[in-house]
Amino acid sequence: MRVGVLTSGGDCAGLNAVIRAIVKRSALGYGWHVYGIRQATHGLLSRPVDAVELTPDGVAGILPLGGTLLGTTNRGNPFAYPAPGGGTVDRSIEIAAGYHALGLDALIGIGGDGSQAILRRLAQIGGWNLIGIPKTIDNDIGSTERAIGFGTAVGVATEAVDRLHVTAASHSRVMVLEVMGRDAGHIALSAGIAGGADVILIPEIPYSLEAVCAKLEERRRRGRNFSIVVVAESVKGPAGETITYQDAHGQSRYGGIGAMIAHEIAIRTGAETRVTVLGHVQRGGSPTPLDRVLASAFGVYAVDLIAAGRFDRMVAWQNRQVVDVAIEEAIAHYQAVDPADTLVHTARGLGIVFGDELQKGS
Ligand code: F6P
Repeated sequence: MRVGVLTSGGDCAGLNAVIRAIVKRSALGYGWHVYGIRQATHGLLSRPVDAVELTPDGVAGILPLGGTLLGTTNRGNPFAYPAPGGGTVDRSIEIAAGYHALGLDALIGIGGDGSQAILRRLAQIGGWNLIGIPKTIDNDIGSTERAIGFGTAVGVATEAVDRLHVTAASHSRVMVLEVMGRDAGHIALSAGIAGGADVILIPEIPYSLEAVCAKLEERRRRGRNFSIVVVAESVKGPAGETITYQDAHGQSRYGGIGAMIAHEIAIRTGAETRVTVLGHVQRGGSPTPLDRVLASAFGVYAVDLIAAGRFDRMVAWQNRQVVDVAIEEAIAHYQAVDPADTLVHTARGLGIVFGDELQKGS
């Protein structure tokens, strides 16, 4: 058997840990050969396919390493691939054929919801035997309680909140921390609770600046000389507008809501405010022990699914164990924060404000 593996979409901590688990389980458990495809589906466009055979010896020592030894990209959609003269072109047939050019019997795709959707379409076109493994710091893919990389990102964001606390207290400031998460507030919610933030703003809960500032004023009245506000990158501006900017390639990116919130707080409360945008540090670094465990469990189970001949499945973490679900089901709904989520309840119970309190009259 020849098993392919690729990482697709934005990187995160734990990708090397899952590659290692796939290689070990395939080689030691079944005597199979594993081929790592470079740069996500881009590797399948090259002829010969841009791939490297991965052996247990070859992946020794990569468990604690951040990034992905195979490389990845979140650009170059096979169905709308950048054309040399501008515009896009559909290269899905060539990419789907790359699987057969490499002589694969199965392919494991490690990616978030967008990547899983693309890989599934390619699998249907090319007749691939596909298994999906969920990874994303955003934790926004359906049917799994955890995706690889989320825990590490929350750890980085939590450490940032801890560090901001002390400098905020020294200077009597309001510190605003903008974190990633795409269209979901999972990182902000978990890091805000773990770090003891005073305000958490997430896209799933509309806020008012009045409610945010009321919390900050209340803390000041109680003699607390500083406050910490954690804001998710996709939170809308005070007038309900999406806050994005265009990068050098004309792509729209999230970024800027933290500075906007800090500015408004400074104007409305007179507090000295500063803003920190955490950015890609949330994706780098060594995976936490729990991300290493999750990655290892997912990798082993994915190979076992191939052995069982069960394809078009994604591994998932549910109720304390690894299970598998239809990829179609996992990508069918976007896993945003449920405003009735137990962690939202937890945060409110701790006195953390989401900015909707005035409307609710609480
Ligand atoms: O999906 C992961 C993520 O890190 C998001 O949280 C963030 O919005 C985006 O990717 C950043 O993408 P890029 O690496 O292209 O800047």
